[in-house]
Amino acid sequence: MKSIAIITSGGDAPGMNAAIRAITRSALDQNMVVYGVRQGWQGLIEDQMIQLSAREVGGIMHIGGTFLGSARSAEFREEGGRSKALRNLSGRGIDGLVVIGGNGSQTGSHRLSQMGFPVVGVASTIDNDLFGTDITIGCDTAINVTLEAIDHLRTTGSSHNRAFLVETMGRNCGYLAMMSGLAGGAEVISTPEAEVSPAEIAERLRAAYERGKTHAIVVIAEGVKDNCEKILSFFEHDRRMVGFELRATTLGHVVRGAPPTAFDRILATRLGVNAVTALNDRDYGVLIGQQKGLVTRTPLGEIAGLTKPIDTEFVELARMLAR
Ligand code: F6P
Repeated sequence: MKSIAIITSGGDAPGMNAAIRAITRSALDQNMVVYGVRQGWQGLIEDQMIQLSAREVGGIMHIGGTFLGSARSAEFREEGGRSKALRNLSGRGIDGLVVIGGNGSQTGSHRLSQMGFPVVGVASTIDNDLFGTDITIGCDTAINVTLEAIDHLRTTGSSHNRAFLVETMGRNCGYLAMMSGLAGGAEVISTPEAEVSPAEIAERLRAAYERGKTHAIVVIAEGVKDNCEKILSFFEHDRRMVGFELRATTLGHVVRGAPPTAFDRILATRLGVNAVTALNDRDYGVLIGQQKGLVTRTPLGEIAGLTKPIDTEFVELARMLAR
């Protein structure tokens, strides 16, 4: 393989820059020419590419986001858009593509791969909802930022005898909410895989209040039906049913833009280097992930379009520990 392109697609994630650096430098080490695609799939359709040298990817590892830019592209979902993208790759003599991204992005990788182009995916999303990997680049950082917010809310909650509803990101997967809730000692964690009704939340908060707790944390995953707003309106007519005074905080994109943790930088480096190895091995159409501590390759056809739920063991663990 003589020339490759790197693209970051979908929602940005802390550690994407470290992955770009690792892919670029290991490809340069194999005497390949490396291009970076600007603004995700849309940039590929519009032929927005820059050549990357070792220097271009210096000084970026510690910065969140992606210096190449990212975007969601409706045009790429159509075959016509993908054909334009393929023409642009061929026009520059590029013979391999590394796609750093999550669920939607890897579905795009699969589609391009089905059209015969050598593509390798690198698992990266704060949601950790991809099959074919135990953990995705960016998730550890997002958990830690969410956890820091929970710790702060617990402190102010204790001062005022308050309960806090904290809404996390995570789309339809409860991993981010579950892990940050477990690490933050939350009283209740509601996820799409195991939703807790407003009535049950009230009951558990009331019980915590009566046991003499000075604060309570309720972590609500983005993808649940009864989100923060609905829970607050459920309590509106009688806030006393929860005992505590109640406040709500929605974290949103703040957890996505943080500097990557050491874990995410190392994961990104390992997966990035292995993506170049896979292209060199002519092992195309695979997702590079990490399973049981080892870097693995899973056919994109086996994972595209699927959302990995959380392990139900965590649901029981969270319930048992919230005493
Ligand atoms: O997939 C990452 C993610 O941050 C999800 O947790 C969230 O649902 C979504 O992206 C938000 O998308 P956008 O940045 O387009 O608002």
